[in-house]
Amino acid sequence: AEGDPAKGEKVFKKCAACHAVGPEAKNKVGPELNGIVGRAWGAVDGYKYSANLLELADGKVWDAETLDVYLTKPKDLIPKGKMAFAGLKKEDDRANVIAYLNQYNED
Ligand code: HEM
Repeated sequence: AEGDPAKGEKVFKKCAACHAVGPEAKNKVGPELNGIVGRAWGAVDGYKYSANLLELADGKVWDAETLDVYLTKPKDLIPKGKMAFAGLKKEDDRANVIAYLNQYNED
């Protein structure tokens, strides 16, 4: 289902303690998420990713489908990753936050 970016902006409040998006975005506890839909795993220069994320990266790209899997339960996809977030149980929340992030795909 297509996500709703306006609803996704509200869901992103759960991410915003650790992640920023937009023109002023800087790395926080987690990497900035500009252009994340279509961005390679572990691609932000100067951000210190977990060894496990970098090992699994292997040329992978965050498309909407992989983001949906990761955001459902981050530790299922990256077991020793360092994103300390339980996940978004509701499919709509995931679709909406991905639609919100997809707005930040122009550089
Ligand atoms: C990594 C999204 C919540 C901390 C990532 C990545 C994505 C993401 C896509 C991979 C980035 C990349 O490969 O460049 C989200 C979204 C969230 C969320 C959409 C909310 C629904 C959080 C929260 C925290 C957090 C609440 C902190 C408590 C991190 C950290 C990493 C990361 C530390 C690096 C993981 C590693 O190196 O293993 N996040 N995140 N995230 N996130 Fe989140």
